[in-house]
Amino acid sequence: MESPLEHDGGEENNVPDTLQQQSISLVINDHIYTVGSNIPPWTRLVDFIREQARLPGTKVLCREGGCGLCTVVATVPDHEKPGQEKTFSVHACQALVYACAGWRVETIEQLGTRFDSSYHPLQRALHGFYGTQCGFCSPGMIMTIYGQLKSGHPITSAKVEESLDGNICRCTGYRPILDAFKSQSVDADEQLKCRLVDIEEVYKGHCKKKKGSGCGGCCKDMKKDVALTREQTISTTEMGQWYRPTSLIRVYSILKNLRTKEKFHIAVGNTGQGVFKDDGPYSVYISTVGIKDLYSTRVGSTSAPVVLGANVSLTRAIEVFRDAALESPGAFAHLDIIAKHWQFVANVSVRNIGSWAGNLMMKHSHRGFQSDIYLTLLAAGAELTLGHAADASTSHINLEQFLVADMSRSIILSVSLPPALPNTKFRTFKITPRAVNAHAYVNACFRMEVDIENDYEVTSRPTILFGGINPSFIHAANTEEFLIGRKLNDNATIVEAAKILGSEVKPDNHPQDASPKYRAQLAQALLFKTVIGFLDKVVGVRVRSAGPVIDRPLSSGKQSFDMKKEEEVWPVGEPLPKLESAAQISGEATYLDDVPYLPNELHAALVLTTQANAKIKFVDATEALKMNGVVNFVDASDIPGQNSFVVEAGPYPDPVFVEERCLYAGQPVGVVVAEDRNAAICAAKLVKVEYEDIQRPVLTIKEAIKAGRVKVGQNVESFRAGTSSQGDVEGTMKTVPHKVSGELSQGTQYHFHMEALAARVIPTEEGYDVFSTSQWITETQSATAQVLNIPANSINVSVRRLGGAFGSKISRQNLVSTAAAVAARKLQRPVRLVVDLNTNMTCAGWREPYCSKYEVGFDDAGKLLALKVELYSDVGHVPNEPSVGILVNVLQNVYYIPNLDVTPHIVTTDTAANTWCRSPVERNVVKDDIIPLLKVKAAYRERMIEVEQYNQDNRWKKRGLSIMPARYTYVYLPEWAFRVQVTIYQHDGTVAVSHGGVMGQGINTKVAQVAAYVLGVPLNQVKIKATETMIGANSYVTGAFLGSDLCAHGVKVACTALHQRLEEVKTRMKAKTRKEPTWQELVKKCHSDHVDLTEHYWTAAKEHPQSYEVWSACCLEIEVDILTGMYMIRRADIIQDCGRSMNPFLDVGQVEGAFLMGIGLFTTELVKYDPATGQKLSNGTWEYKPPTALDIPADLRVTLLPNAMHPKGVLGSKATGEPPFCLAYSVVTGLRHAITAFRTDENGDDSWFEMDVPLTVEKVHQLCGINPDHHFKLE
Ligand SMILES: Cc1cc2nc3c(=O)[nH]c(=O)nc-3n(C[C@H](O)[C@H](O)[C@H](O)COP(=O)(O)OP(=O)(O)OC[C@H]3O[C@@H](n4cnc5c(N)ncnc54)[C@H](O)[C@@H]3O)c2cc1C
Ligand code: FES
Ligand code: FES
Repeated sequence: MESPLEHDGGEENNVPDTLQQQSISLVINDHIYTVGSNIPPWTRLVDFIREQARLPGTKVLCREGGCGLCTVVATVPDHEKPGQEKTFSVHACQALVYACAGWRVETIEQLGTRFDSSYHPLQRALHGFYGTQCGFCSPGMIMTIYGQLKSGHPITSAKVEESLDGNICRCTGYRPILDAFKSQSVDADEQLKCRLVDIEEVYKGHCKKKKGSGCGGCCKDMKKDVALTREQTISTTEMGQWYRPTSLIRVYSILKNLRTKEKFHIAVGNTGQGVFKDDGPYSVYISTVGIKDLYSTRVGSTSAPVVLGANVSLTRAIEVFRDAALESPGAFAHLDIIAKHWQFVANVSVRNIGSWAGNLMMKHSHRGFQSDIYLTLLAAGAELTLGHAADASTSHINLEQFLVADMSRSIILSVSLPPALPNTKFRTFKITPRAVNAHAYVNACFRMEVDIENDYEVTSRPTILFGGINPSFIHAANTEEFLIGRKLNDNATIVEAAKILGSEVKPDNHPQDASPKYRAQLAQALLFKTVIGFLDKVVGVRVRSAGPVIDRPLSSGKQSFDMKKEEEVWPVGEPLPKLESAAQISGEATYLDDVPYLPNELHAALVLTTQANAKIKFVDATEALKMNGVVNFVDASDIPGQNSFVVEAGPYPDPVFVEERCLYAGQPVGVVVAEDRNAAICAAKLVKVEYEDIQRPVLTIKEAIKAGRVKVGQNVESFRAGTSSQGDVEGTMKTVPHKVSGELSQGTQYHFHMEALAARVIPTEEGYDVFSTSQWITETQSATAQVLNIPANSINVSVRRLGGAFGSKISRQNLVSTAAAVAARKLQRPVRLVVDLNTNMTCAGWREPYCSKYEVGFDDAGKLLALKVELYSDVGHVPNEPSVGILVNVLQNVYYIPNLDVTPHIVTTDTAANTWCRSPVERNVVKDDIIPLLKVKAAYRERMIEVEQYNQDNRWKKRGLSIMPARYTYVYLPEWAFRVQVTIYQHDGTVAVSHGGVMGQGINTKVAQVAAYVLGVPLNQVKIKATETMIGANSYVTGAFLGSDLCAHGVKVACTALHQRLEEVKTRMKAKTRKEPTWQELVKKCHSDHVDLTEHYWTAAKEHPQSYEVWSACCLEIEVDILTGMYMIRRADIIQDCGRSMNPFLDVGQVEGAFLMGIGLFTTELVKYDPATGQKLSNGTWEYKPPTALDIPADLRVTLLPNAMHPKGVLGSKATGEPPFCLAYSVVTGLRHAITAFRTDENGDDSWFEMDVPLTVEKVHQLCGINPDHHFKLE
């Protein structure tokens, strides 16, 4: 790679050295960092923050701007307002370090820590509202809102909701996070404000400035500054070239001198890589952020256009559009509509830095990109100004010309949006699989000049545009032509226009997209919606319901539980914030990858296969090994033991690395090991894998049944294979008055733990120390011993905490830890293997998909008489963890089914082995007191009347109300056992507990509460230590929330034994001194009397409650926009039986989190495969959509069943982590009600229909069965 001065030609290129900087500086939390040419230009800010600045509070997962974990706050010069600055949140995984020259960056560490005692109010709020569970998302959540706060705009409750559109939390269900931040808003609800539990209560924090009170963040304002006026040219030798010109002429010069082969990237926000991940690599980066002109804006007037410079961010553009609409509503009212549309583009942190011009260029390079920016600017009649490097000239073109313009040596300079003509009607749509932060299935813009006085005549050629149809289709030209001079008030016009549209819209067919049929129908539906919207009051109220999209109100939540202080067990039962929460909100909670590197530590990256069901012809790592920093390639030939990372988790081997035949696309062939992570990841992509004997992969249950890959499953309780029966199904079926039969399918679900699978393996004197993100330390130890062929006692496994798991880290984790162990053994150096989201989603199995074939018999009143079910579970390529044997026993749910046959089947497919995932779902019908209580709390009867009335009044919006009870059976299998140890330190009487359970969702808090209660010490004297295989030896997997139950039970027994020993000494002391000794005095005395101050316990199966039932019920109301299929959960009321809750807020958190994860399974979380290769196409945040904060029920009310003491449970409690998951099925029954209402009213069809889940927006629409000819009516 040449330095810039070596480029041929162009005098402008020879910028004097005095005008160039060879390094950049930025401030991170008060420290100035200077970056020279030693790092590649593509280095992301997040890696710099974590690795160079050593600030691990900022987390990372997706690296594509889709999860919000890496959010930091930046203060940068405001080029629009010289001399001023602006502050906003940004994804550190997208910003390039060199582009941050002159920035002041704040990370979570800057806000407040336990040690400087000055938490920011946002941190205090998140803590006080119990807004953390695993805590991995917490820093990103806080920084996003902090960015809004510092941007200078007042934080309102609505702003809080809008702002969290890009932050994913898989644990909490978002409600407590929203409440926490809303409590800090200018319009905070009084009830929220007074609910705040002050963190100072727990960690005495004081403001250094305001004596005696908590800090409002004033202690933390950054002082340091880095002036940046000069331009930069940083040549990073063979790693690429970075230019930061400060004038356009210089940009032209750089472009002109580029060699033909050089691939350049104009880096503005650099967010485009989050969408098109395979663009690049680039040899030249040109950052235009130093060119002030590109930031200019003009608001416009009735005669002058609105103008935006190319670098104007989407956030700023939205402001300009709103100002223009406000100042000149006659000319720019449509810009307000565009502003609203852009508000739904990406997410806050992308919009803060991503430019509209960058978006247009993405459309230019990827014609199929359903760009909202392109479509809306085209509809607004915008004109672009381009600058051309060849002669420094400018030209003006419209958006259509732009798509075919040669941009190889040109750049976009600005866009101008003309005022609209009078009588212009404007409408835009974005139909998405999820409420926010999702690209459109189909987006559309309609612009028509309409003469309202003359029956809504279309007076000129309208503009009708669609995205998401096919790469060459934008204008619905025939429909546009047809509508000229037509009257929209005429039903025949609408039906005919829809027909023409239907015939000209020809969606392409890609496996990852929604079906062509849906997309074509959507285009027609949006046309109808637009016309009805324009006609508005001209049409009747019922029809008018077609016009608007669903309006989501500000969400709210209520939680109720027994607040009676039960002194005899306090602090058990006390609604306390999580113990770790104070460390989580400050970014101090240490997760595996937060631990600093050892000096000789290596990094590994998995090399994944891309073809399922094929033989490996060869693997060639030659190119990878040539890369700087690469140390080795490790594969199956390096495994000294057995090539399988499964021991107790199942009877069948599951290879660490492929040997001969690749069983699934994404199966690792090995790891590349390098001195740094980036080198390892880049090199892994260079390893060539060739396949032969490629067989078409079997990917679904139906394909597996067809291929004969089915075997009968076994009932886990009876240990019998085959059908489990009660009563006489065959006989009853012959006589039942009614029968329904069919099939129900349920797709898979990615666990979406925010901390990816990770491991560190360190060779030691005695063997290996394994740090792992494992839910099951014993299995990790055994798997490592098996793969390395060494004794278990030479392996120490330890886990500090997990950033979520939900079952994925029970056994799948060991793929990563054993791979790292093989590398560490081969190279005899510490090896760290941390996968990214894409790799995690690809290499590891998910929830098992299900299919059930059923026949049900019932009487005239709908009472169940008989049920016959064939259950099929897809276990992936190997049947190690089938859950179907459990479902056999719990399928009845709360219903009494006198005659029942359930036959479990297991099918194998050419996919990664599936695994446990939060609650195998029981779908079906509680304890007498729950349903009546729920009906009252949810005002079920009154609301049912309202819903029926609403459905009568609205043809195109339908509501559904469903009530669903659930019974969840917890069975304590004999192998469920944990080892716990409690230690009282003689020095000061403080208590340490270690147990074999892992996680961080609340287990530690509950365990500490039990220890504090039994020993009679304050909670803050109890600390929970990391889990490891010495003290927690042979412990079972932490899952199904039984870990909390059993560890709490074990600690109770151990503490009781300790307490008894201490009591004996106390009695003797009292007899002698006639006074009560203090705790410290007692502990000291015990120590001097040689009383053992430690106790351990093994939670042997004999004393577990053998099984118990958890009861719950949910009432859910949903509204569907029939024309698009989009829907919103209006309200959900949940009653959950937790026994006597050990910690009500933790339990509420579990209920809400599990419920929302279930909502995801049943609605948005759809996986698609490439049918030819078997690759998972849904392997990132762009493609896979777990619910966001704006997908939760708009009104969520959770009640913990009162007076529900459970005598068999630990201190009267019941486990809560999984049962509420199943309640989410009420979303399906709610949708059934709404869809049935439409089908019955409009098609006269009230028959039963199958509802396979996930019920995506597309599926809901398709189930409604709209026929434009028949349904598009004005009356
Ligand atoms: C998570 C996520 C969700 C998203 N969702 C949506 C969505 O729903 N709808 C939608 O429409 N978009 C969406 N986007 C795309 C987003 O709008 C763009 O990534 C952003 O606008 C690009 O701007 P940028 O400044 O970051 O461009 P960059 O990434 O810096 O650049 C993108 C491309 O533009 C080129 N470029 C930049 N400026 C110029 C210029 N002045 N002249 C010539 N070339 C230039 C660059 O060379 C590069 O090829 C999403 C993006 C992300 C990351
Ligand atoms: S890691 Fe940056 S947004 Fe996901
Ligand atoms: S607490 Fe949000 S992801 Fe775990």
